[in-house]
Amino acid sequence: MTTAEQVTHRAEDRFRATTLHDAMPPVDYDRLPPGPSWPALLQTIAMFRFRHTFVPWMHRKYGDVFTVRLLPGSRPLVLHARPEHAKEIFAGDPEVFHAGKGNAVLGPVMGEHSLLLQDGAEHRRARRLLMPAFNGAALHGYEELVAEVARDEVDRWVPGESFRALERMNALTLEVILRVVFGVTDETRLARLRPRVNRTVDINPVILLGWAMPRLQRLGPWRRTVANQVELDRLMYAEIDERRAAPDLAERTDVLSRLIRIDEEGDTLADTELRDQLVTLLLAGHETTASALSWALFELGRDREQLARARKAAAEDDRTWLEAVLKESMRLHPVIPMVVRTLMAPATVGGREYPVGTTVGPSIILAHASAENHPDPEAFRPGRFLELHGNRVGPAANTWIPFGGGVRRCIGAGFSLMEGVAVLREVLSRYDVVAVEDDEPRVRNITSVPRHGARVVVR
Ligand code: HEM
Repeated sequence: MTTAEQVTHRAEDRFRATTLHDAMPPVDYDRLPPGPSWPALLQTIAMFRFRHTFVPWMHRKYGDVFTVRLLPGSRPLVLHARPEHAKEIFAGDPEVFHAGKGNAVLGPVMGEHSLLLQDGAEHRRARRLLMPAFNGAALHGYEELVAEVARDEVDRWVPGESFRALERMNALTLEVILRVVFGVTDETRLARLRPRVNRTVDINPVILLGWAMPRLQRLGPWRRTVANQVELDRLMYAEIDERRAAPDLAERTDVLSRLIRIDEEGDTLADTELRDQLVTLLLAGHETTASALSWALFELGRDREQLARARKAAAEDDRTWLEAVLKESMRLHPVIPMVVRTLMAPATVGGREYPVGTTVGPSIILAHASAENHPDPEAFRPGRFLELHGNRVGPAANTWIPFGGGVRRCIGAGFSLMEGVAVLREVLSRYDVVAVEDDEPRVRNITSVPRHGARVVVR
């Protein structure tokens, strides 16, 4: 049983414990591939605000491997455009190629046990304990509930009225997290959770970065952030306590119940770990899937031929085609721009040796926009995921990488595809979709989303 005092202390400790400046040795830029020499602040702003133009511009200017300088502390990030480099980075020794470091800024919200923040043996253990809730059989068990949530949402749409697909998809994927991941069904409890969760997912990088300056913490926005976290945690710990004691725990199919049941030779997840992993799944799985889905509706909405093909697939429950629609949307509009690994020891990528402290990563934006990887890259053509190339169906290995790769590959990849297919099926079996204005990517928090929200009309 978690007491109110424990909840408050744990939340405050999370914020206090966050350090953004790791004791990484300075890296000599002369040993790294070329890149802009502007101040790190400018490059950081360009990467976070304008990455969809800045990254392709650097690629044109400097070639397939280039260096960006980022805050805090002017740290080097070496981006790679080639699939063979992506392959090497994904296969890099996880003791050397750390992924958690780059996510430290999310510590106050996700917590130290978060899968996204851990590395080495701790990461291996957490991944082993979480994996059974994301395997094929578990995913199959979530499908019906996801379809039900999607039907409820689509039922409320008014034909002929335009709306932002992103807004509706955000509401939908949030509901999926609450019901399918947290396993909450009680309406009163859902009503209490929704505003807390909404405020949590709307994480503002400035607030998170400001946490490194203790004097700021007394000010309103920071105080409110902690207060919201304490309240969310209180609800989550209460849910965990109750779920542990639930008489139907053995039959429940939601992610939390599965995680509570896991007992691998006596190793299970403690309450604090469950809380951290649930918030991680919430933050990692909500807006990412919503963005991918809203781009899919947007692309179908401006291509009558593809829409007709997808509606036929929905009517026939042809999941392979609907999945190809989603995959092609994620290719054309990468939700996450890159994958990053920080080197804990010198390592080689593409025949070049990098010193300790360098962050290396494949650029998802460049991999997906390359004509060599995907012929006619600007075109929305789901069929490319079903074409045979030699003995492989779809694009070559490491050319389509929206979920990263290797031991850190997105644990929710299968979940988001299952969810996306279920949602597209519900929408398209009922409606024609028309995009009402053009759109372009914009960076929101960490993900790229349609700037105008992918405005559509359904008929
Ligand atoms: C379109 C939807 C999604 C996209 C584009 C996406 C993308 C990514 C990417 C690029 C990574 C980093 C992989 C790497 O470092 O190699 C990642 C990691 C992760 N994702 Fe997703 N994701 C999506 C949906 C989800 C969902 C639905 C969940 C959970 C329900 C989820 C949970 C996670 C977690 C926990 C990690 C950390 C894995 C680890 O470090 O071991 N994601 N995701």
